[in-house]
Amino acid sequence: MNDGRTVPQLGFGVFQIDPAETAEAVSRALETGYRHIDTAQMYRNEKGVGEGVRTSGVPREQVFVTSKLSNAAHRPDDARRAFDETLAALDLGYVDLFLIHWPLPTLYGGDYVSTWRTLAEFAQDGRARSIGVSNFQVPHLQRSSAETGVTPAVNQVEVHPYFTNEEVRAYARDNGILTEAWSPIAQGQVLDDQVVRRVADAVRRSPAQVVLRWHIQRGDIVFPKSVTPARIQENFALFDFELDDEAMQDLSHLNRGEGGRTGAHPDTFDYMPD
Ligand SMILES: NC(=O)c1ccc[n+]([C@@H]2O[C@H](COP(=O)([O-])OP(=O)(O)OC[C@H]3O[C@@H](n4cnc5c(N)ncnc54)[C@H](OP(=O)(O)O)[C@@H]3O)[C@@H](O)[C@H]2O)c1
Repeated sequence: MNDGRTVPQLGFGVFQIDPAETAEAVSRALETGYRHIDTAQMYRNEKGVGEGVRTSGVPREQVFVTSKLSNAAHRPDDARRAFDETLAALDLGYVDLFLIHWPLPTLYGGDYVSTWRTLAEFAQDGRARSIGVSNFQVPHLQRSSAETGVTPAVNQVEVHPYFTNEEVRAYARDNGILTEAWSPIAQGQVLDDQVVRRVADAVRRSPAQVVLRWHIQRGDIVFPKSVTPARIQENFALFDFELDDEAMQDLSHLNRGEGGRTGAHPDTFDYMPD
């Protein structure tokens, strides 16, 4: 990352994992070999993540843990309080990476900059080893860096073969920001695609494995989510095969532009948790 720290390129996501099942899923992932867990305040399962890490037997410093600021806590004082709550819920001493979850340009008077400045405080005092953003479009990245002088270490955005998000990825690449690809298999929607199946058959791997491998070869960070033990293992077995240029291009050509986006558009998303 641009702050000199490193992040494992493959991790484990816990969005939509029931809080009561999170510790077990995280333990299983760590047992499998994952060393990077991606959670968020709005997932309401940070406590389970911390518990899974603490009981795993894997030393704390060997696990990279990310969380993200709730949409309800963008005002600086709320962000400080919410960050304290994240640290308490995880109970792991510090967080490796803390992100603004969504820019929310239609809320808070369009001010995501003071929120970003507040995250810089958390990095200054070391309680967040690194800081970054999520769902930032190019103008959001430009403005937050220009007005604070602090560049995010990562931008976590939707990316998969149906939505390759090239413009945002290219801006990040050119400005030393790593891209983290969320919903890397589009929550399963790309797995029945004929092209994905053909590429998978050719290398004798599963559809999920070739799509995840495509992300890895593009240089993005991924953290597929699964509560299914066999899939947790399957999604980790990505480093003993390779896709050739033709297979990489075939998968990239599945891009449907904006039509392939499965999640909300960051310019208009204004979800507020209770
Ligand atoms: N920053 C953001 O706004 C944002 C938004 C969305 C996601 N994320 C992050 O990105 C992570 C991953 O994204 P995601 O959870 O939305 O979706 P995903 O990882 O693309 O897909 C997860 C879904 O695919 C299934 N699955 C997993 N591995 C599979 C395999 N090998 N074969 C067939 N099906 C498989 C899972 O089912 P089972 O669990 O039933 O096995 C689950 O339904 C999240 O957990 C979260 O950490 C961030």
